[in-house]
Amino acid sequence: MTTLTRRTILKGAAATALLPAMLRANPGETLLRAGAANVQLVEAEYPATQVWGFNDSVPGPTIRAPQGAQTLLRLRNDLDQATAVHWHGLRIDNAMDGVPGMTQDAVPRGGEFLYDLTLRDAGTYWYHSHNRSMEQVARGLYGVMVVDEPEAPEVDRDLTVVLEDWRLTSEAQVSDDFDNMHDLSHAGRMGNFIQAVIDPAPTEFAPNERLRLRLINVATDRIMPVSLRGVEGWIVARDGMPLRTPEPLEMVVLGPAERVDLIVDVTAETGGEVLVVFHQRDTGYVLNEYPVTGPGTESRRPMLQPLPPNPIANLTSTDDARKVPLLMQGGAMGGLQEGRYKGKTLSMRELVAEGQLWTLNGEAGLPETPLIEVSRGETVVLSMGNDTAFPHAMHMHGTHFQEVLEDGTFGPHKDTVLVNPGEARDFAFVADNPGKWLIHCHMLSHQTAGMKTWFRVT
Ligand code: C2O
Ligand code: CU
Repeated sequence: MTTLTRRTILKGAAATALLPAMLRANPGETLLRAGAANVQLVEAEYPATQVWGFNDSVPGPTIRAPQGAQTLLRLRNDLDQATAVHWHGLRIDNAMDGVPGMTQDAVPRGGEFLYDLTLRDAGTYWYHSHNRSMEQVARGLYGVMVVDEPEAPEVDRDLTVVLEDWRLTSEAQVSDDFDNMHDLSHAGRMGNFIQAVIDPAPTEFAPNERLRLRLINVATDRIMPVSLRGVEGWIVARDGMPLRTPEPLEMVVLGPAERVDLIVDVTAETGGEVLVVFHQRDTGYVLNEYPVTGPGTESRRPMLQPLPPNPIANLTSTDDARKVPLLMQGGAMGGLQEGRYKGKTLSMRELVAEGQLWTLNGEAGLPETPLIEVSRGETVVLSMGNDTAFPHAMHMHGTHFQEVLEDGTFGPHKDTVLVNPGEARDFAFVADNPGKWLIHCHMLSHQTAGMKTWFRVT
């Protein structure tokens, strides 16, 4: 049994922007200005929090465009350090992927970069800094990207729900202990202020309202188990990609960077409430609560159809696939003895001295040579094995993969997947997008401390 508490972990309101969210750059372009800003992140009795945000807000402005559109986004960097923006989950040109040192140079202070994106897939995506990302994402450099289906299912409201985990000091400032060895070697940087920022912010709901909720876990490291009270419905998409068969909604567990799209009906009656609940051990913390008021509509609507599929291949076989092991090792209690780093074999002690604590296939940090070279059209099976004491949110750039299930069928298209200690699971994809693509743990503390590699498609 879960006990519900009314207290949020540190009670708070949504972050509010001080300046208008969307600034215009050149005609046809949207400006994303990375810079420091002050936002009232927690309650008014606390000081404003200095964050790093896009256009002075956290989350940054929601970018919304129709499927198939070309979108021009101009990054301007007003931070004191270099940055770059990655479009998480979007299948786009490699040159626009936003990975410094691999697909572009990091944009220095005062610099600009024009991202030219063609939006092949509809769904819920997000963008975030991919330079010094553990710190830059923890400080607020992220936002939502929604790509609309030409024929979206009919709902009364379409809301984004950004799940955030901040580590704040008692003065409500972002704690700057980014080199905390315990975080880097264990489950990562855990915050003390968890909130769900819902946009547009509701004040109340009506009985039988139909909602589309787009949940996104933007935490650097925290896995978020979340449930909703006062509504019933379905999970209709994961990581932006429509599910062929919507799943009945129960608890949702999202690793860092994972998303789900929900379509739910308000089943609470007038006088009741809708709650967003974060679960930790046996306690449910109410993050948001809204009254249900008014007559609403009289009855629930019929079950919905699945979302229209995106133009991504569905795997049918891996008979001719290239099998590639991807073994996760290291971290506290992992027993790793040595690993390769920058071409040399180092003892665990030497690795730690380099800030490297995790390896993929025995290698820490970004290797000079790719994990694999594949030709366009080839099917690849990544055999992921987690030989560490912690879960990892494994993320691949450039395309989505599908889990190869025991019975030979394939799971939903995903771009990030939680792999628990001791698990060995296969994920297959068709390499259809030329370029250099990263594979890394999206627990950004782990990524910082070595857990990353890359592959090339030619
Ligand atoms: Cu959302 Cu390489 O990351
Ligand atoms: Cu990890």
